[in-house]
Amino acid sequence: MDKPLNLHEFEPLAREKLPKMVYGYYVSGSDDEVAVNQNREAYNRIKMRPRMMRGVTTRDTSVEVLGKRIPFPVIIAPMGFMGLAHEDGELGMARAAAAKGIPMILSTASNHTIEQVAEAKPDTKWFQLYVYKDRRVTEKLVQRAETAGYEALVLTVDVPVLGKREADMRNGFHLPEGYTIANLVGDEMGDMRASAGESGLSEYMRNQWDSGLEWDIIDWLKTITDMPILIKGVLRGDDAQIAVEHGARGVIVSNHGGRQLDSAPAPIDVLQEVVDAVDGRADVLMDGGVRRGTDIAKALCIGAKAVLIGRPMMWSLAYDGQAGVEYALDLVAEEFDNVLAQCGCKSTDDLTPDLLMR
Ligand code: GLV
Repeated sequence: MDKPLNLHEFEPLAREKLPKMVYGYYVSGSDDEVAVNQNREAYNRIKMRPRMMRGVTTRDTSVEVLGKRIPFPVIIAPMGFMGLAHEDGELGMARAAAAKGIPMILSTASNHTIEQVAEAKPDTKWFQLYVYKDRRVTEKLVQRAETAGYEALVLTVDVPVLGKREADMRNGFHLPEGYTIANLVGDEMGDMRASAGESGLSEYMRNQWDSGLEWDIIDWLKTITDMPILIKGVLRGDDAQIAVEHGARGVIVSNHGGRQLDSAPAPIDVLQEVVDAVDGRADVLMDGGVRRGTDIAKALCIGAKAVLIGRPMMWSLAYDGQAGVEYALDLVAEEFDNVLAQCGCKSTDDLTPDLLMR
């Protein structure tokens, strides 16, 4: 295939390069993959009604997130095991995000450590947390991130148990020899193997991660870190409200890329409810199926500050390492700028709800 022209086109190229087990892990959703597909379809149902003749020769695509300007409203979503996509793993992703000046959210389940990624990305980076049953292990992770200069803590709340991902069960998804969950090696929780017919990740999380979390975990996290806390995986206004009451500085509307509850709504369809509930008291972000400049513009019109992009970033890493990710980010940034112009927007402030027909 020719060089990709959009984010969709990285996936088939990555598929050619990746072992079946790895491709299956990244690509799959849960159950019947209804949520994965709906995440995309939901954008197509929203039309845009552009303004004409607004003098858009120069445009400003930047936005402010957690009080910091970023050049365009895209953040690298937290994803585990980037080393399986490309030998550079999280370091390649981090260097690409740094080159483009956008934040990256490092997953707890990374193949490179918090400190190695910090070295590769001196600018904005956030750390995604899965809470280990052993709170001392959790505390150590959070403190390592803070010490290494991560600027925010992203608590994932939509994985009390792992969604049923049949590709991973069939392929016995596990970390091959030589790969670890690098941050946990020192605590002897760095291995992820699989029993027959099982997803190794499902087994690992059942053994190590706390499925009993309640909202007061935010209060505890605030006692161990000064980093602002974002809550990822919210799909309801009332949950967003509770998150804010516990002091969350950000809420990420997400159905985990369709990998958790398969009947969950598309994030773009519940974004308005969350934006209304939060009412400016925290930054609202979203992810799920973002592929096009128009998808980003729609989210911002509804009130998101920025979007997270997941799988296409992984595919572009598999395609060509750091250079592949930089190229993918250029494509989506250019598309977003093109949409601003076509909608008659000089800056992201002009992305207002009246541009949408829903
Ligand atoms: C882990 O969070 C996953 O979605 O695989």
